[in-house]
Amino acid sequence: MTPPQLVAPRERRIAPSILSADFARLGAQVDEVIAAGARIIHVDVMDGHFVPPITIGPLIVSALSDQVHAAGALLDVHLMIERPERHIADFASAGADAISVHHEATPHLHFTLEHIHEEGCAAGLALNPATAAELALGAAEQADLIVCMTVNPGWGGQSFIASSPTKVSRLRAVLPGEVPVEVDGGVGEKTAPLCAAAGARLFVAGSSVFGDPEPGEAYRRLAVAAGAG
Ligand code: DX5
Ligand code: ZN
Repeated sequence: MTPPQLVAPRERRIAPSILSADFARLGAQVDEVIAAGARIIHVDVMDGHFVPPITIGPLIVSALSDQVHAAGALLDVHLMIERPERHIADFASAGADAISVHHEATPHLHFTLEHIHEEGCAAGLALNPATAAELALGAAEQADLIVCMTVNPGWGGQSFIASSPTKVSRLRAVLPGEVPVEVDGGVGEKTAPLCAAAGARLFVAGSSVFGDPEPGEAYRRLAVAAGAG
């Protein structure tokens, strides 16, 4: 089974992260960014162990699944949890299209990425800021995307780590051309162009979209800044 593709070759896409959305109006907030052109909705799952906060689980993925898929959009689930291999099936059945796991969160990366594929999802490998780009190479054959953390995982609204574009360039140099790099954290109108120039093609944006009183307008401005569709 071919896994879903988040972004076409050479295309760039913004993935609004619902972490910064108003959860009392989650459906309406997601509709707003989809109406503005979003085709990827990023869902940040945190377990209170791998990162200190606890956020959301398969229940919210399932609650958004019909709405997002009916609009032709995809759910990009970012697992910031220990031993993610234990939860892949639950997120896949809830409606995830892509599931990303952290290099630092399991000793069984090959197994986990294969398991994500067996569940019919695209497999993402996420790297913390201090994890060397070269470590992505060991999983390059299984990974459909590489998530380059441009803040330390765990919270929305942090400042972009200035050295991140250099890491994106290094990832681009070592990875096969068809594997997109997704930047995650502190991505806004000023930092997105730096990541795009370094070779990023997916741009997770939480506070810069949902922290704005007009998320649809913020999405459009960011898409222009990143040169995204
Ligand atoms: C951080 C999460 C991000 C978060 C980004 O741990 O992985 O996806 O939502 O938030 P901003 O865009 O506000 O930095
Ligand atoms: Zn994320």
